[in-house]
Amino acid sequence: LPQLGAGVSLPGVLASRCGAKVILSDNADAPACLENCRRSCEANGLHDVLTVPLTWGEVSPDLLQLPPLHLILASDVFYEPRFEDVLVTVVFLLRKNPSAQFWVTYQERADWSIEALLHRWKLACVDVDLETFDANTSELAGSNLPGNHSIQMMIV
Ligand SMILES: C[S@@+](CC[C@H](N)C(=O)[O-])C[C@H]1O[C@@H](n2cnc3c(N)ncnc32)[C@H](O)[C@@H]1O
Repeated sequence: LPQLGAGVSLPGVLASRCGAKVILSDNADAPACLENCRRSCEANGLHDVLTVPLTWGEVSPDLLQLPPLHLILASDVFYEPRFEDVLVTVVFLLRKNPSAQFWVTYQERADWSIEALLHRWKLACVDVDLETFDANTSELAGSNLPGNHSIQMMIV
């Protein structure tokens, strides 16, 4: 499963530690972010996680060469209102892998919405209540950041 815009890569690292075959990706124009992905793997003793440059909205050889996928992960990739680039990459991967799902967490910022774009790209999504996996608390894993933000999750 790939994680898009992985940065520090927590979801992908966790998935890999749980036994998934994971590909971490970040912006092809931001080698330092890809390096962060690699360092997160090293710090967590993961040696079989691939790191692939993928820029949202771009059809690159790296995107075309991804193996069959079951799950696409992303966290905090809808943080500036250029949402369509992310969705173009997600739509490309979901059309190529029709049984795959896109799981994404996002922080509510301003009053931006991706609803119209989901309609335009004919994507159906469900909201996931954080309470279903005990993540609706103001503190998680020793961090009080969750209490300072409004975090949501959806599956496309
Ligand atoms: C707000 S950070 C979130 C990082 C990480 N997923 C997390 O939750 O901590 C956004 C990430 O998206 C990546 N990103 C930004 N623009 C991108 C683009 N056009 N294509 C691919 N990745 C991009 C950034 O490099 C960064 O790692």
